[in-house]
Amino acid sequence: MSPPKTFHVKSFGCQMNVYDGERMAELMAAQGLTQADAVDADVVVLNTCHIRERATEKVYSDIGRLRKDQRRKSGKTPMIAVAGCVAQAEGEEIFTRAKVDIVVGPQAYHNLPDLVAKAAAGTPSLDTDMPLLSKFGALPRRKVAPSAFLTVQEGCDKFCTYCVVPYTRGAEISRPFAAIVDEAKALVDAGAREITLLGQNVNAWSENERGLHDLIRDLDRIPGLARIRYTTSHPNDMTQGLIDAHRDIESLMPFLHLPVQSGSDRVLKAMNRSHTRDSYLRLLDRVREVRPDIALSGDFIVGFPGETDAEFEDTLSLVDAVGYAQAYSFKYSPRPGTPAASIVEQVPESVMDERLQRLQAALNRDQHAFNAATVGRTCTVLLERAGKLPGQLIGKSPWLQSVHLIGNHAIGDLVEVTLAAAGPNSLTGTERIAEAA
Ligand code: SAH
Ligand code: SF4
Ligand code: F3S
Repeated sequence: MSPPKTFHVKSFGCQMNVYDGERMAELMAAQGLTQADAVDADVVVLNTCHIRERATEKVYSDIGRLRKDQRRKSGKTPMIAVAGCVAQAEGEEIFTRAKVDIVVGPQAYHNLPDLVAKAAAGTPSLDTDMPLLSKFGALPRRKVAPSAFLTVQEGCDKFCTYCVVPYTRGAEISRPFAAIVDEAKALVDAGAREITLLGQNVNAWSENERGLHDLIRDLDRIPGLARIRYTTSHPNDMTQGLIDAHRDIESLMPFLHLPVQSGSDRVLKAMNRSHTRDSYLRLLDRVREVRPDIALSGDFIVGFPGETDAEFEDTLSLVDAVGYAQAYSFKYSPRPGTPAASIVEQVPESVMDERLQRLQAALNRDQHAFNAATVGRTCTVLLERAGKLPGQLIGKSPWLQSVHLIGNHAIGDLVEVTLAAAGPNSLTGTERIAEAA
């Protein structure tokens, strides 16, 4: 295989994978490779997700499709690298299931250029080491989008019984304060106006007694950085300091994604969630006390092994009690090697389907109600991309709603609008006309 000249990175799964995918693209660009479509690229990196079975299986169908598409178009055989959580979880096995050239885990992708060179010389290679932090080397930033991701924490020590993340991402680690602040400044210099701090348990970030709220306080001082967000949080790492930050720090957006998974204490215990329904609800009360307008978001799993009808009803009643602004919900998917996968009483697929439908109907109802309740409010919208209509731009409200706006603005502008009408998934904004002085 001759040395590749073009590359393509495709990321699946969570926002951290998106961030990692961007880093891998920067690494390849720094080697002089140029970006191309998947069908044309000499190297294709599939940055994979292992969280549910379907996500994992998708990788294998994608590999086949990619090879076919390239063969049809140009007769070429691309170099294929499997990165991300499937690479970490399945390792060597991937070579036996599919024809790929590189398998590289989420903690080793800084070695990608070396692995590509080796593969070009004819040696397929695997790197799933987990050296602490070495992948976060400072790379020059290209131009970035108005809303950028920044990983500050990685890994998980919680070992929920259904979840692969502690195995694919390793133990909880926090990146150093100074490195994060430097990267945030570089992002702002490259055009970011909003930064979302990422971590599998982002609110577990700590350094020498300092917590996430201290980090946010420092980032708040960076000139030009208008908005700060963070995700995903764990209920048990929600400190009073972080709650208070929602009252005290204006650039910290009124949005909290706090997964609960179930509304039943028995199920929560079997999931090893280490919080109860009640402790979760009380926590949200404390957050709402300091920031009454906060938009709440969550993750749910239906059909955890042994979940009864009554236990599922507890989840619905928790949803009713909270009133989420948005949420994600999933059917339980047994993952190899996790304790829950060996529980005998798996819930039948048809029951899971029905529960998911009912849960999603309730969550959609609440999302619409939340959106409708914000109509008439005045707020800022950060414009992120062009819409379909002429002159239309799409951005986000402080509550992470998509807002459509027509006006004479550019992507990256922070515009003051009045939320005028709520559709099922987005709102329309009208510009607030500044009053004559
Ligand atoms: N660290 C975060 C998110 C982890 S993965 C947290 O704990 O909140 C994102 C979501 O995927 C989880 O919150 C959970 O709802 C879902 N998930 C994880 N493992 C799953 C599985 N085996 N089956 C179905 N959903 C799962
Ligand atoms: Fe998975 Fe639980 Fe860790 Fe979240 S807290 S990543 S669900 S083990
Ligand atoms: Fe998926 Fe790994 Fe993220 S399993 S959800 S890509 S941490």
